[in-house]
Amino acid sequence: MSRRSSGQVTGYVPQLPPGFVLGVASSALQTEGAAGGRAETVWDPFVRRTGGDSPAVAADHYHHVRGDLALLKRLGVTGYRFSTSWARVQPDGPDTVDQAGLDFYDRLVDGLLEAGIAPMVTLHHWDLPQRLEDDGGWLNRATIEEFADYAYVMADRLGDRVASWVPVNAPNVETMQGYATGQHAPGRRLGLDSLHVAHHLLLAHGRATVALRQAGVVAVGCANFHAPMWPASDDPADVGATKLFDALWNGMFLEPMLLGQYPADLMPLVEELIQPGDLAEIRQPLDFYGVSYYRPMRVAAAEEGAPLPFRFLQTVGYPETDAGWAVVPDALREWLITLRARFRNALPPIVITECGASYDTGPGPGGVIDDAARVDYLAGHLEAVSAAAQRGVDVRGFYVWSFLDSFQWTGGFRERYGLVHVDFDSLVRTPKRSYHWYSRVIAAQPRSRG
Ligand code: BGC
Repeated sequence: MSRRSSGQVTGYVPQLPPGFVLGVASSALQTEGAAGGRAETVWDPFVRRTGGDSPAVAADHYHHVRGDLALLKRLGVTGYRFSTSWARVQPDGPDTVDQAGLDFYDRLVDGLLEAGIAPMVTLHHWDLPQRLEDDGGWLNRATIEEFADYAYVMADRLGDRVASWVPVNAPNVETMQGYATGQHAPGRRLGLDSLHVAHHLLLAHGRATVALRQAGVVAVGCANFHAPMWPASDDPADVGATKLFDALWNGMFLEPMLLGQYPADLMPLVEELIQPGDLAEIRQPLDFYGVSYYRPMRVAAAEEGAPLPFRFLQTVGYPETDAGWAVVPDALREWLITLRARFRNALPPIVITECGASYDTGPGPGGVIDDAARVDYLAGHLEAVSAAAQRGVDVRGFYVWSFLDSFQWTGGFRERYGLVHVDFDSLVRTPKRSYHWYSRVIAAQPRSRG
């Protein structure tokens, strides 16, 4: 890789395995808008209650889909990961389907295929329909049944054209932020009682995987959000807290999905939730293991009497994104190599289902959006993936989070992750420098040259 200075990554061509997918990712609630065409999700009342930005319009992708497809085509990506909105497809419950909602995804998929882009569909990216939350949401086992039904509906409609499917996005974030600490919707503060939700999300993954395969889908994987855990010091209390949080954050979904067992440290907490057959149902053979990676986390023991036994400190000594997240590409390389070493034959091929950075770079002179820091971030992380692949890790794709600037949950519209800038008043799209850079990286891959 040749670099002149920060952001000046010139002529960079990562060495990637043949057929490697270079893509971008998004999610329904974060980009679509068109709230009138869907039922309420848990995020709608949550932002009203907390005074957060509303996802009602977001990037209005629903109404800009043709232009957005043209931007994807021009970018040259070979894969696009998006999610479908359960609240749009089944606004009134399990026995009904909204044709207009389904038609939207049909058009999107057809447009992607015409542009030579392979779609990857996520079924649930944190936007649970509020009507289900009213009945207990992910605390209620009945939600899992409905989810499997919705999975079947989607696969039945799109499975002839969409090869790759992810049932549940980042279930650890939804469990912890949505149900343990209440920072995300639905805003419940259940502490470790949120582990019911973890178990149900795992079952939802398992049961939806079965439903997708029954409907004839080719490849099913996952998109688990992982972060290497660094203890704040070598004090045994910090090391112990880090180990526990690592089990909750990284192990709790990884181990049941791949091995059919919970991490030993968590067994006392989850034992009573497990019904006969659950673990076998969760451990479905997967066609790919999705790793969504952003940063390492630094963990310390919490003060005596705190509701949770760990707390988080800034990771010092590294550059940071605007979200205050440490930029440590090498931690990704190390994570991938360790994952392979630990799980060996139980590990399917890896896909990086998300990787990206929040930088609020706006238009400069001449309207140019010079997000050099994002270029550096992405080049560093692609290089980390390439290094892991050269060490023998079977990694097959990399999806930049994200395609467009969008609704970033509690970060609202202040946090911008897109390769494409969105003016949230006019909804005008402007490709950033990172978009042009990524497009050159993709074009330089052998597939495109041939
Ligand atoms: C989520 C995205 C989110 C990103 C950055 C990921 O875990 O899947 O929806 O925007 O983190 O916060």
